[in-house]
Amino acid sequence: MAFPQSFLDELIARSDIVDVVGSYVQLTRKGSNLFGLCPFHSEKTGSFSVSPDKQIYHCFGCKKGGGVINFIMEEENLTFPEAVRFLAKRAGMEVPEEQGDREAGRRRQRLLDLNRDAARFYYQLLQQPEGRAVQEYLDRRRIRRATAVKFGMGASLDSWDTLLTAMTKRGYTKTELLEAGLVVQNKNGGLYDKFRNRLMLPVIDTRGDVVAFGSRVLDKSEPKYMNSSETPVYSKRRVLYGLNLAKKSKRPNIILCEGNLDIVTLHQAGFDNAVASMGTALTVEQIRLLSRFTKELVLCYDNDNAGKIATERALQLLNNSEFSVKVLQLPRRLVDGEYIKQDADDFIKFQGPDAFERLLTGSENGVEFRMAQVAGKYDLASDEARVAYCGEISELLASLPNAVEREIYTVRAAETAKITPDAMKLEVQRAFKRRLSQEKRAALRRELNPAVQAQPKERAFRYDNIRSAKAEEGILRLLLMDASLFPPELSLTPEQFSSPLLGKVYGLLRQAQAAGRIPSAAVLTGELTNEEMSHLTAVCQQPESARNGKQALADYIRVVQTEASKRAGGGNLDPLLAATEKYKDKKRGKQHGE
Ligand code: UTP
Ligand code: MN
Repeated sequence: MAFPQSFLDELIARSDIVDVVGSYVQLTRKGSNLFGLCPFHSEKTGSFSVSPDKQIYHCFGCKKGGGVINFIMEEENLTFPEAVRFLAKRAGMEVPEEQGDREAGRRRQRLLDLNRDAARFYYQLLQQPEGRAVQEYLDRRRIRRATAVKFGMGASLDSWDTLLTAMTKRGYTKTELLEAGLVVQNKNGGLYDKFRNRLMLPVIDTRGDVVAFGSRVLDKSEPKYMNSSETPVYSKRRVLYGLNLAKKSKRPNIILCEGNLDIVTLHQAGFDNAVASMGTALTVEQIRLLSRFTKELVLCYDNDNAGKIATERALQLLNNSEFSVKVLQLPRRLVDGEYIKQDADDFIKFQGPDAFERLLTGSENGVEFRMAQVAGKYDLASDEARVAYCGEISELLASLPNAVEREIYTVRAAETAKITPDAMKLEVQRAFKRRLSQEKRAALRRELNPAVQAQPKERAFRYDNIRSAKAEEGILRLLLMDASLFPPELSLTPEQFSSPLLGKVYGLLRQAQAAGRIPSAAVLTGELTNEEMSHLTAVCQQPESARNGKQALADYIRVVQTEASKRAGGGNLDPLLAATEKYKDKKRGKQHGE
């Protein structure tokens, strides 16, 4: 996966950051930088900046930043090698492939070919007399022929080796069949088909590749659903069942359900925007994937306890995201005097598509869902419960960042509690003030304690030695601003840096300079994670005067080296003493308070 450095240099040189970012974000020049609306978080005033000189971007709002490759990784939701290929295509450059890379690529392709052949095989079995049991099951569930075809459904037979034999005949090896998870090995080393006597549901990703299979038994036996295990081509965190179809939907949103067959029924009923996460909780990877296709999600989980917990968890994960989120709550169904759980599939079956369409248009937003959850906890007929309800709901309302939303839902909560809107408003205002003063106190604490303030937000980048780290930041700022300051002082080594990340960056810059390259942010490409890169660009954005650069650099270096020698025990190599020094430092840090 390692691309030759010379290739990356040329790629970056041919992918000017202003051009690349400019095709996604409208930029206006202000001084030496360009500004626009940040594509990574929603905002109304532009805090997203691009520096043509440093060839980096940085958002003062969400703190994301990096070089042109980082930008494409974030914006297009790609891995590093994918982003490199993306930019190479744009720049009209050929990507040099590595030996190992090509080999891994070939193996992946073999597995994808095998999955596709297996899906075709299951599909053909379904059309033949042997597939009758599965066809009858589909009929019972009222899944039409055309729908089954659209989803590429198939049948596995009540036999131990039908697929094994067929795929071996096609030239696939035992290793490949095992690796794809289509066959399993018993204790004696014998192989047998993993999926038997089941309805087969190929899982197709957004590129159209068959990456895995879901499957369902035809009767009441267990396990009801059996899915492929994780393979080199399948990670369940990154796939959503039905997204290959839903991504082409003309509907404005995407509906998230729990079950595979819910998706099938919904598509059949005209809701071709439904997807399912196949028995796992919604993941961040799936959310990023969805963000490529829609800005609005509708959560439609089962109306039972597990479904409510899943909804709450998804809402939390989606909180502060760019998505607008709604919750579609399926009603329970009255059967023999008892209310029973319904999923989307049941609802469509018993209530029909029109009723579902009504639920979809009338579905609540996340706030309404949470308010209903709170209301559900209290018996609002009793005065005591109403008081308790007001206390809890006012906390929820006070946490809404938008004033208009706060106002609207305050009136609604008053109706629920049967009190006057004014009384409710007062209650919410109080809660709001409490929150503000809590936040203020926290801010004040930070102000009184510069050590805490100077700490970068991300835990991963906490500095052990603030004094040294601030100087280290200064060194990197100066060197990245003015490459002519290189080499700084030859005695300064990366090991003398107290922050491993900053030391690593310095090492990379020094290495590049020694190899005759310009030590700019470009040389860090591929060496740092996106988070590390963001941290570094934030560091570079802090003010630093280029005048007297040489003197400032010398001062910074002195601080770093003094601190480094202190850490080493001031030349005293007694490890015990060094350890106690460290212990003292730690205690001192504590006393300054966190
Ligand atoms: P449910 O048990 O709610 O099933 O599982 P369902 O979708 O309503 O199934 P039908 O209507 O009886 O056919 C929801 C989802 O959880 C996953 C499957 O993806 C299923 O669609 N699951 C469920 C499993 O992976 N394994 C299981 O044993 C059960
Ligand atoms: Mn169901």
